[in-house]
Amino acid sequence: MKLIVTRDYESLSKAAAEMVRKEIEKKKDTVLGLATGSTPIGMYNELIRMHREEGLDFSRVVTFNLDEYVGIGYDDPNSYHYYMNANFFDHININKNNVHIPDGNSENMEESCRLYDELIEKKGGIDLQILGIGANGHIGFNEPGEELYVGTCVVNLDERTIKDNSRFFKSIDDVPTKAITMGIGSIMKARKIILLASGKNKREAIKRLVEGKKVTTRLPASFLLLHPDVTVIVDEEAYGISR
Ligand code: PGA
Repeated sequence: MKLIVTRDYESLSKAAAEMVRKEIEKKKDTVLGLATGSTPIGMYNELIRMHREEGLDFSRVVTFNLDEYVGIGYDDPNSYHYYMNANFFDHININKNNVHIPDGNSENMEESCRLYDELIEKKGGIDLQILGIGANGHIGFNEPGEELYVGTCVVNLDERTIKDNSRFFKSIDDVPTKAITMGIGSIMKARKIILLASGKNKREAIKRLVEGKKVTTRLPASFLLLHPDVTVIVDEEAYGISR
């Protein structure tokens, strides 16, 4: 696992965007795994700038998002469908037919999960997966617990996740309790992975991850220790350096 500690959130975002740019320049039809949340916003802004000012071309890029809430309308600003359009896709020249986000409103969830993993494989697998990390160590919505799902699945959200994500909702009672997420196995199949973490809230999870001693379902991100090509980019606050 490679660790990059950046001075602040801005340089973290630029470092991550630069890695995505390299991947797209190497392979025009790169398959990207994408994340939502506060952390990747700066990276998306930088990629939008690269598109506008430097002509970074997304026309053949294929994307798969990590997760989506269950039972939330896609016109709801808290849905990840809405987030991705508003924060990224509406501002670049991506072909929306190449965009894939798990369906949190499917009539047949089990089938929809199976088809999502199948589609990732059909598109040749994920070349570069972007991840955030929960303060509880989750990746995607693979929450700490006794066991983890291998493939895309429906999960109950952890209390900590519901609390952390309630900042986006009117009240904590409005936060969905279930989500559809790529499983740990779906994530681990990506050829290259970048995990981003910013701010004090992530310090404990990052400390446990970079200590790198144990793989445990209690810290889902620890499975990344088994992956051959992971870069963890953290800012000094997340790493535990205070200036
Ligand atoms: P955040 O979420 O970027 O909003 O902190 C990260 C995550 O929960 O994976």
